[in-house]
Amino acid sequence: VSRPIGVFDSGVGGLTVLKALRQRLPSQDFIYFSDTARVPYGRKPREMVREFSREITAFLEQLDVVGIVIACNTASACALPDLREETAVPLWGVIDPGVEAACRATGSGCVGVIGTKGTIASGAYQDKLRAAGLQVWARACPMFVHLVEEGLADSEDARVLARHYLRDMPRIDTLILGCTHYPVLVPVIQEVAGAAVTLVSSAEVTAEVVAASVVRNGPSNSAGRVTHYVTGGVHAYQHTAETIGGVEGKVIPLDVTRLADAGVAVRGTPA
Ligand code: DGL
Repeated sequence: VSRPIGVFDSGVGGLTVLKALRQRLPSQDFIYFSDTARVPYGRKPREMVREFSREITAFLEQLDVVGIVIACNTASACALPDLREETAVPLWGVIDPGVEAACRATGSGCVGVIGTKGTIASGAYQDKLRAAGLQVWARACPMFVHLVEEGLADSEDARVLARHYLRDMPRIDTLILGCTHYPVLVPVIQEVAGAAVTLVSSAEVTAEVVAASVVRNGPSNSAGRVTHYVTGGVHAYQHTAETIGGVEGKVIPLDVTRLADAGVAVRGTPA
């Protein structure tokens, strides 16, 4: 039995990364952890996001994952460096892949990045993009996550908010969707940003990086399975996940206040 890869996010956003991962690794099993009881992470203190990420990482490690993808920019920005030191399995974040995607896409060298308050305030993207020699405009878009979690990605409200957040966007040729929820908003963001701006996300490059470092057990014809663990309501999760290509596989509710014990209890449940 091959060991699954763990993937986590505060909510459904990380499913955009899971989708890209499954395209690259079709026979790989995944465990997707969605912390919908505590979404959004984006406006919570850094230390709190780090603690949540630590709990989830420990939970996934108890399920014997072969590695963990932090499919959340906020958690990648706040927790990745510390967690790497504490975790026995490889951890992959989404910020370096986002930077890489922007470097590949830009011609003018002028790029933008949008994300949660936590991600933008951390300066993680800005520092890395500047180090790569690019000019950077950055903006936090805190309401975007709620639009996606509420299934309102294609709404007039989404357009109004996008116009608000991008109102003083300078001339850039590439805009990084620095939050894994944002690919769901692409039609609206593209409309407001204009056709001349290339929208890039971390999903593809993250999948590329993970696929390159995972040891495959030879070709397999069986399709990989996904088990979902959610800390919030299962129905709300399934409903929202529909907008991101659905939820194949079992969805298992977890009591977030007992996450530490939960890992031990579910261990042995086939992924
Ligand atoms: N999807 C997450 C990210 O990439 C966080 C959304 C949130 O919980 O604020 O940043």
